[in-house]
Amino acid sequence: MKKYIIANWKMSGTSAGIADYIACLTKYLTNKRVENELTVIICAPHVYLSTLKDLTKELSISVGGQDCHTHTKGAFTGETSAEMLADIGCKYVLIGHSERRKYNGEDESILKNKVIMAQNAGLIPILCVGESLVEREQNATLEVLKRQISILDEVKGETLIAYEPDWAIGTGVTPKFNDIQTMCNTIASEYHKLTGKDAYILYGGSVNAENVLDFMQSEDVDGVLVGKASLLPESFGKIIEIGAQAN
Ligand code: PGA
Repeated sequence: MKKYIIANWKMSGTSAGIADYIACLTKYLTNKRVENELTVIICAPHVYLSTLKDLTKELSISVGGQDCHTHTKGAFTGETSAEMLADIGCKYVLIGHSERRKYNGEDESILKNKVIMAQNAGLIPILCVGESLVEREQNATLEVLKRQISILDEVKGETLIAYEPDWAIGTGVTPKFNDIQTMCNTIASEYHKLTGKDAYILYGGSVNAENVLDFMQSEDVDGVLVGKASLLPESFGKIIEIGAQAN
């Protein structure tokens, strides 16, 4: 089964730095297994996506947005539509990252619209789901995940879901490996109950070169979403290298 390694640069990068980053990352992509068995995606700040698309056109890297708007166009200052992302060559878009849920108040009705917009534009949505620490302590994880996944009921094509408990993001703390496998498994079966189809289920939250092997070897985890450790090409390259060996 194909596996995914996704970089989420968040609000990081400079136009000059991206060229150096890609030049350095290229040497980690020559392995045939990377080309054939891994899908490597970089989700960059929107202002840099065109540059990134140009720099990666000869490489086995896909480019994704970090969010899209609920409308295709119009009077929404500062926003980017899914159609615009598709127009500049993006194939994927992150939707519902916990930072957007937290700082931009994105709830299920907003996120469902975004998923539909992404799909209509021909993008593959990567829906981020996951419980907060409080929800976990209240034993509400399953209920939260079911609610978050429920917005995918009308999705038709390929779908990626990233399980990212927000207490594991940027903290250096990850859930127990068995818990991650169980959660990914649960998400897969909830999605199947909802749609009758399979989705790719990824894990995200403090993934790095030291812990990525376990995730990439697991039958329940279809890949990883990497924040901080994707910011340097050497560490993201190492993650790709380890991911390719794990297949
Ligand atoms: P992190 O971020 O790898 O820095 O924990 C992951 C994410 O936010 O997607």
